[in-house]
Formats: sequence, structure tokens, C-alpha cells
Amino acid sequence: MCGIIGYVGNRNVIEVLMKGLSALEYRGYDSSGAAIISDNKTKIYKAEGKLQNLKNLLNEKADEVKDSHVGIGHIRWATHGVPNLINAHPHTSNCGKIAVVHNGIIENYKELREKLTKMGAEFKSETDTETVAHLVAFKYKETHDLKEAVTLAAKELEGAYALCVVHQDEGNKIVATRRNAPLVIGIGDGEMFAASDVPAMIEYTKQAIYLDDNQVAVLTNDKIELFDENNKQIQPKIELLPWEPVSLSKMGYKHFMLKEIHEQPNVIRNFLTGKIHTAKEKVKLDEVKLDFEQLKQMNRIQIVACGTSLHAAMVGKYIIEELCNIPVDIEPSSEYIYRHTVTDEKTLVIGVSQSGETADTLTAVRQSKARNSHILIITNRPDSSMAREADSLIPVDAGIEVSVAATKSYIAQLTAFYLLAIHLAEIKNSCDNDKLVNLKNELLILPQKIELFLTKKEKIQKCSRMYSSSKNFIFIARGLNYPTALEGALKLKEISYINATGYPAGELKHGPIAMIDETLPVLSILMDGKVYEKVLSNAQESKARNARMIALTDVDSDERLEELFDFVLNVPHVDELVSPIMAIVPLQLLAYYIAEFLGKDVDQPRNLAKSVTVE
Ligand code: AGP
Repeated sequence: MCGIIGYVGNRNVIEVLMKGLSALEYRGYDSSGAAIISDNKTKIYKAEGKLQNLKNLLNEKADEVKDSHVGIGHIRWATHGVPNLINAHPHTSNCGKIAVVHNGIIENYKELREKLTKMGAEFKSETDTETVAHLVAFKYKETHDLKEAVTLAAKELEGAYALCVVHQDEGNKIVATRRNAPLVIGIGDGEMFAASDVPAMIEYTKQAIYLDDNQVAVLTNDKIELFDENNKQIQPKIELLPWEPVSLSKMGYKHFMLKEIHEQPNVIRNFLTGKIHTAKEKVKLDEVKLDFEQLKQMNRIQIVACGTSLHAAMVGKYIIEELCNIPVDIEPSSEYIYRHTVTDEKTLVIGVSQSGETADTLTAVRQSKARNSHILIITNRPDSSMAREADSLIPVDAGIEVSVAATKSYIAQLTAFYLLAIHLAEIKNSCDNDKLVNLKNELLILPQKIELFLTKKEKIQKCSRMYSSSKNFIFIARGLNYPTALEGALKLKEISYINATGYPAGELKHGPIAMIDETLPVLSILMDGKVYEKVLSNAQESKARNARMIALTDVDSDERLEELFDFVLNVPHVDELVSPIMAIVPLQLLAYYIAEFLGKDVDQPRNLAKSVTVE
């Protein structure tokens, strides 16, 4: 969480920093700030709330910094201390000459704070980051060199950090370093950039250096000096970024989330292109670096992920077990990393992450790597920290997802799991070929069916209006749509703040049914297949307690539905195995329209950040 940017060069510093922070706004948006070196002074500007407030402030103050060539900026997602002006970054040393922006968490900040206070530092904020500013200041007194001071200070920091540091007495440079938090350096012509993520700089350069942990970079307008963890100067490895300048346009949609929901058919199509030619041919998934012999050695699969990616993993478990006959465990990464897991070289570990930067999943993946497991990463960011840990890497190519609530990346992750399961089944010969051919056919025609559904949104809009005043919501399903119920509920609570919960339909009577009364909407996911009748009878149990009854179904010939439910949301009929891809789309829309109707900030819901880089 939090995004940082640094710029040295001859462009308008405010413009570069603000554009960069806009592109990083997905990482946090509760306050922001910048430090700009101008007239040999470190000038600090901060604003509470959305980035626009900082932009407005800097517009007013533009004259104060018009001669500037160096600046650093920050967009915050608060961890230590409430989001106010004092806690907003940059943080400064008591002399006011040094300014620091930070992404991550300094875990030993309490000890450092105590130590630095004894040494005479006066703390103003509640943040962990302020310790870095004071620590660098003390090291600077010893060394009179910003790079040396940052290097020494970093050795005393525990936890995760990406840092950009400036000092007015060395006003032509930025010193940047990282450990367990992303930081990329952009090389321009007579200018240098540092940022938490590529979109912040891609408009200006495609040449980049991904810093490794503990490296320190000194950026001036015409050069980068890079030092390894032993403080030895090393040659930077410059990579060409496979990115086009990111279009942050909503393309006429009111919100990015709505645009991204509508992009889903093409996301699936693009993903399938080149991987399934015809249903009769084998899936081509060269990204998976496991052959028959290696696969034979694997006795289990573990999938680690968080949030929406975890729900994709749950569907993945179902499909892989169904087609490949290998036991699959799934676990939230945050649980996986703090217990003894039975993981070894016979375990295939799959990390799933839209961002590829989620701290818990990254740690889980690194732990498994240390135990010699084969690491397969499914991510939307092939340039991410997680991707760099992969033995096999499946980029899902959903395109940049701006809305904090994940939609198209989820659909892309699901598609990745189907392809992976079919691919493994084809290698292992573990599944009836007709079933695989049918599944491939179903995947190929799915984008059209979703497109068809997306042309008929009126009923969902009506349903959303009807239920938008509900304080609670229950989603029920069974089998491979149980994760759909969880994901539908997550979408709704994320962006509308309605207390929504997903349950396996059979579990309702084991407790949750106590909550049901005539005010509570219960949405039953009734996709055609082996659990259809079961979910229907579980829905009856809710009806008997006077719940407000909603059905989501691909069955259009069952008269019982109109009798049982107040509202029936229909989607085109699909094969049961691919039904999680179809069924999630109306639930994304339901969440979207309810939130929009309630006037919520759909793309940037409160308290959330898109990339969760702290444990
Ligand atoms: C999804 O809508 C959420 N924003 C969140 O649950 C997200 O899926 C989770 O934080 C995991 O992120 P990742 O996929 O980038 O690892």
C-alpha cells in the first residue's frame, strides 16, 4: 500500500509527480504529499483526502517551486496513525533539510523511535516512517553524504520499505532503496524516475531497472549509480518495459469498474487466443514448465492467495481435482505463512495475485520456494515481485485494472485455472477426452454468452434499486459456485459497505438461518447441474423464514423459480463446469449498481487499496 515517486530532470516537477501519483492512486488515497527541492530548500506540501486536494494546493503554490528539478511524492494508505496532515508523507528530519517518502512498514519503529528520541530527535507524527527521516539525519551528521547515510540507516531498519530520500544540501539527487516492497527506476534522456510501479513513469520512459532487495540507487539527471548490499558499486541491468502508456480513460463509462466488467468477454478471448486453437487440439500452455515425469513426482498442489484471488483459487481447486485427480489445498496466504505447512519438492505451489505484490502471498511463495517446491504464479503483472519468484509464470493479461474492486482480473484468473487444469489433465491423461473437448468448447463460446448478457442489464439495475436499502445480504450456493457466492458477497461489501456474506447453501441451517427474517435478502445461485435441486431446497428453507428471495440462474424452464423467488436474474445457459465464470458477472453488476445507487465512491472504496503490500 502507499505509492511513492521520485523525479530528477528538467520537466515540470509538479506535473511529473502528480501524474505519477495519479497512476499510483490504486495503492492508497487517504492523503498525499510531496517534497520539492527549490531555492536550495526542501519544501513540503501535504493534503488530506484525495490526491486532487494536493493537486489544488500545488497549483496555488506553483510559483514557489518553479525552478525545481528534484522532487519526491507519496500517496498514502494509513497503517500507523490516522490519515491526517501530520501523518501524511513526506516526513522530515528536525533540521527540515531531509525528506523521506516510504511504502511498507518499519517493524522495529518503536525501538528506533525510543532510541532516536533519547538521541534528541523530536517526533511530530505517529508514523513508522518518521523514524527513517531522523535516522538518516543522524547518519548524515556522521557521513555528510546522503547515499552513505541512507545505506547506514537502512541497515538498522526491519520490515518492508521502498524509500526515496532527498536532502537540500545535495539538491540534485534522490537516493532510493528497497527491501520487500516494490521499486522501479526509470531511465530517461537527462532525467531519472523512481516509483512503486511502472504506470507512474511509462509516459516518459520504457527503460527501467528493477531494484533488488537492499540495493541503493543514487539518481541524478544524467546518471544512476547502483550499489549492492555490501555497498559495492554494480552495473545496473536495464530492461525494456513491455508497456504502452497506460490509458486511464473510462471510455465513456461512469466508473472504471463498469468499464472493466464490460471488458471481460475480450479478456477471456485474448487469453484463450494461441492457447486453445480448436477444442480437439491440446491446450498450449508453454508457460507451465512441468513435464510428465516432473508432474508424476508431484503428490499435491497448494494454492495461496488473498481476497478475490483466493476465490479464483477455490474454483481452481475444484476444477483441478475434477480433471487431474491431484489433491489441492487452498489457503489464505496470511494463514499459510504462520503455521507448519507440509510443503516440499513434491508439492506444486501456486501463487495467485492480480498485483503480484500482495505481501502475504509473496511471503508464502518465498517460504515454499525455500522448501524446493515448484512455484507457479498466476498474475496480471508479469513484471511484479511475485512473478520474479516463479518457476512457471502464467500472465493473465487482463490489462491494467484501475478499480480497486477486482473484476476482470478475477475472470482472467478463472480462465487461467481452467487452462491449467486441462493442460495438466492432458499431460497426465487423467480425464476422459470428450469431457476435455466439451470444456474447451464451452470456454470458447463463453465470451459471446457474457456479451449477450451484458446487453441486458435492466433487470439487474431494477433489482439493485430494490435491494439497495438492505443492511445485510446473504449469498448461497454449493459446489463450484460456493466461491461465486463468496466473491459476490465480497464485491458487494467492498463497494457498498453492506454487510454481505456468502455461505455454502447446506450450511445455512447450521447457524446463519437464525438471522433470516423478512428484511434479509437471500440470493441463491442456481446454476444448472448436480447441485441445482439441492440449492433450490436450501432456498426453500429461507423462504419458510420469510427472507426476501432472489435467484441467479441459467435455467429458464423451471416454473418453481417464479413461485419461490421475488426476483429471478437470468443468465445464458452454460455447462456446469464453466458456470463460475458466467455467474459472477451479474453479481459484479449487482454490487456495482447498488453502490452507484447509494452514491458510493465505486472505484476507490473507503479503507481499501488495490495492492496490499503490508502483511
Ligand atoms: C478484490 O476486489 C480486492 N480488492 C482484494 O480482495 C484483492 O483481491 C486482494 O487484496 C488480493 O490482491 P492480489 O490479487 O493483488 O494479490
